[in-house]
Amino acid sequence: MAFVLSAERKAIFDSLRPRYPNAKALTIPLLHLCQEQEGWCSPEVIDFVAQELAVPGAHVQGVVTFYTMFLKEKPGKRVLWVCRTLSCELCGAKELQEHIEHRLGIHAGQTTSDGEFTLLKAECLAACGQGPMIQLDDEFYENLTNESVDRVIDKARERAPKAPGTFSSLYLRAEKE
Ligand code: FES
Repeated sequence: MAFVLSAERKAIFDSLRPRYPNAKALTIPLLHLCQEQEGWCSPEVIDFVAQELAVPGAHVQGVVTFYTMFLKEKPGKRVLWVCRTLSCELCGAKELQEHIEHRLGIHAGQTTSDGEFTLLKAECLAACGQGPMIQLDDEFYENLTNESVDRVIDKARERAPKAPGTFSSLYLRAEKE
């Protein structure tokens, strides 16, 4: 089924248009809005973005495959990103990642067999002074230890996963502030 941006996200996208020099420059913001709604950058999302911006689908595909924050496959119910960039790495991100892998029984890039968690490695998530840190869906957890990340995972299991489309959008947040 063809992808369509929700009215709320469409309004945000329309407000972004005048701030960018051309349609191509809107590829990343529009992909963010689509992924927040759909949960990943499905082929339908890529077609939608290409049509909306009147750019080749290969361009959109190229952006999706280049940037790690865009999901190329449908994830599990929750997406847990471990920042792997230098500051976090120096603070123990690799050890934290291995602990989470052991805890979830998967390697980074995989989804648990019950579909509850997808574990991914992220590039810098902009909390470099508070590493190691993770992003769980749209929430950030900093200064983590093996024990504190266990608590984050346990609490996440206790609450219902957020459905795609209910994630708070960076763009929606910016509009409200
Ligand atoms: S290096 Fe991890 S948040 Fe920047």
